[in-house]
Amino acid sequence: MKRPIILAFLALVVMVSQARERRCFDHGWRFLLADSVQMAQPGYDDSWWRQLDLPHDWAIEGDFHAGNPSGAGGGALPGGVGWYRKTFTCPDLGSNRLFLEFDGVYMNSSVYVNGQKVGERPYGYSSFEYDITPYIRKGRNVVAVRVDNSDQPNSRWYSGCGIYRHVWLTVTHPVHVRHWGVYVNNGKVEVDYENPTSEKVTVRNIWLDAEGRKTSIRKPRKWSCDDPYTYRVRTQLLVRGKVVDEVETVTGFRDFRFDAKTGFWLNGKNLKLNGVCEHHDFGCLGAALHEDALHRKLTKLKAMGVNSIRSSHNPPAPELLNMCDTMGLIVMDESFDMWRRRKTQNDYARFFDEWHERDLTDWVKRDRNHPSVLMWSIGNEVLEQWSSAEADTLTLEQANLILNAGRDASALAREGEMSVNTLLADHLADIVRKYDTSRPITAGCNEPSPQNHLFKGKAIDIIGFNYHHQNIADVPVNFPGRPFIMTESVSALQTRGFYRMPSDSVYTAPKAWWLPYTDPTFMCSAYDNMHASWSSTHEETWDVVKHTPFVGGQYIWTGFDYIGEPTPYGFPARSSYFGIIDLAGFPKDIYYMYQSEWTAKPVLHLFPHWNWLPGQAVDMWCYYNNADEVELFVNGKSQGVRRKGAHDYHVMWRVAFEPGEVSVVARKGGKEVASERIPTAGAPHHIRLTVDYDGAKSNTRWTLPAEGGGNLTFVADEGGGSGQNLTFVADEGGGNGLNQHLTFVTAEVVDKDGRLCPLASDQLLFSVDGNARIIGTDNGCQTSMERFTSPQRKAFFGRCMVVVRGKGTLKAQSPMLQEAEIRL
Ligand code: GAL
Repeated sequence: MKRPIILAFLALVVMVSQARERRCFDHGWRFLLADSVQMAQPGYDDSWWRQLDLPHDWAIEGDFHAGNPSGAGGGALPGGVGWYRKTFTCPDLGSNRLFLEFDGVYMNSSVYVNGQKVGERPYGYSSFEYDITPYIRKGRNVVAVRVDNSDQPNSRWYSGCGIYRHVWLTVTHPVHVRHWGVYVNNGKVEVDYENPTSEKVTVRNIWLDAEGRKTSIRKPRKWSCDDPYTYRVRTQLLVRGKVVDEVETVTGFRDFRFDAKTGFWLNGKNLKLNGVCEHHDFGCLGAALHEDALHRKLTKLKAMGVNSIRSSHNPPAPELLNMCDTMGLIVMDESFDMWRRRKTQNDYARFFDEWHERDLTDWVKRDRNHPSVLMWSIGNEVLEQWSSAEADTLTLEQANLILNAGRDASALAREGEMSVNTLLADHLADIVRKYDTSRPITAGCNEPSPQNHLFKGKAIDIIGFNYHHQNIADVPVNFPGRPFIMTESVSALQTRGFYRMPSDSVYTAPKAWWLPYTDPTFMCSAYDNMHASWSSTHEETWDVVKHTPFVGGQYIWTGFDYIGEPTPYGFPARSSYFGIIDLAGFPKDIYYMYQSEWTAKPVLHLFPHWNWLPGQAVDMWCYYNNADEVELFVNGKSQGVRRKGAHDYHVMWRVAFEPGEVSVVARKGGKEVASERIPTAGAPHHIRLTVDYDGAKSNTRWTLPAEGGGNLTFVADEGGGSGQNLTFVADEGGGNGLNQHLTFVTAEVVDKDGRLCPLASDQLLFSVDGNARIIGTDNGCQTSMERFTSPQRKAFFGRCMVVVRGKGTLKAQSPMLQEAEIRL
């Protein structure tokens, strides 16, 4: 019991008088993967439960198994029912209010305070808040949260299980701004507040610049991808001249429009949305939110030239939007993957009728102030596009495959102008527009016909196709005067490091959605020559987008690989092949094609590796920019000069392998501007450790939640509350060392001269000292059955990744290799 005393003391020391206090409530929870009604009760003995800090995902800690009800499509990881409990001490609240806020709980959460049910939320991606004032008493209080993810499958990808985002505790004066009660729209501020008193309340809004200085917004500096300048509005509520509540809202100014002829414009500049779709998981860290993992993801995407993210297919973590605001990434914010018609047996469709209005409202209110959010998407490939499409009888794997199966558009045409589904789409759009009119609405549609029920009404401002790049030429005819983007595109299939030749043949897998696809390698080709039946290679779609001015941009499926949906395979494949970057965070080769097209940064990327059989024909590909020509050499002998045409994105040489070295030289105006060489690697000899991402160094634009976040000190104003200082004390410490940064470390198997061994698959074992902890390992292999939380990992095509929390020395060992150490 020493800890609370120390924390209470600290809290008193830092105590400041202010109108409201909002603190992270992640610290010091107890968790059990079991279910009993008793677990809600304050007197229940949870002392034997595991201690942990949130955010937490229990599924990622489990083993992959074909029998797990999530199926390979859901990542083949466990589900179930889990309980979280937290005990804390509360002073007399007086007339003040206490709110408990959850950024995301997957799924079906029920929250109890001191044994009384406060509320429930089925949708696992909504953020929500409860006013827990009536349930709180002076002294010891217990919050218990039941999370039920037992009815599976309920998602077409890995969802994670548990309280996987942050939790917050807020204490306010009785007169206070309501949850998400500030709406800033292009300089205009609306404030929704609660006043249970008879006092007159004055609202004051103060504009602050990015440095926090008072400012005018007469000529605001614009927010853009290159200069993501943000302002803040400080909203104050005053009673008898005293500030009783204060909230700050980050916002920004930008002019944007989608034009039916010329595409997307931001602040008077015509640019393509070079977007990617992202699911919410962080590979081996699962769905649990880690700011560093998120920042690493966005940093890698931005470096590739990505300027936009689609939060497929659900509301993202608030932190994603905060980072996109400050990093200059445009967001297509998406709500649902299904409406009333389900895609998997137990998905949100069963809650849709009762909950859609609440979920949509909360989503828009939460996200509408972010300058990065430029579009709302009210759904992805919802089956309501058609009249009679059913997915109920399909397996999860089939549901994932069927979505893009061609349907009978002529039947749609016979149905005339209006339908229940059109009305439903309009109704959802009306809910969105009730809370925000400053952004257009779109939806990811895989029925390109104008007869699509979603397109027939007034819901959709921007026509959005998923795939169907062949139908783009018809858009101006089918949708005259309406702007257009590719809400989803490509779905090419790649395994990092694996190359299927001849590389100039394109492989479709599966040939059609209803046909099985098997290949004993369980791999897909990292040349851009393999894709699903409804999709295309990366180059094919980019060529259309690039050369069609009215296409505002595209959202490639996907930036990173994600857990679940391992199309074209089934178990033991358990994570996707669609990513431009693999699950561990290693870029696949195609990353450099986009970098060469989307950035001004010089790119010269030669692949594959140079370890083949003597005489074997090998296709060498090269992505480049800022040069007129490239020339390939094998052991110094020229293999010819290549130049890209207007519609080319790579060049290729077919050469006979001989050990030694392959190299490429890029020239501009006859002068060499870049070169790259790949030597043949010798036998695996030692391990090399390098830092891929250091959260402590990279994390400059936001802060992690404070350690001991259970403490909260609120000085009530004389005018309102109890007039006393309120200090909340967390009763015990947590387990994970909240507020410690993550370091991602790459482990490579190299030969005696330090050359990467591109085929190595040695088993590596990691250990740490100091206060460091290994929290995950991964290698990007879609079929690895090693636990994500294990300190062991096989190298996959020569490398793997280990994620460490805290500071210390990381050591990597392997039976046949010299070990390595790195100080973190
Ligand atoms: C789309 C769908 C995505 C994903 C993708 C795979 O139809 O919107 O969620 O399933 O196909 O190609």
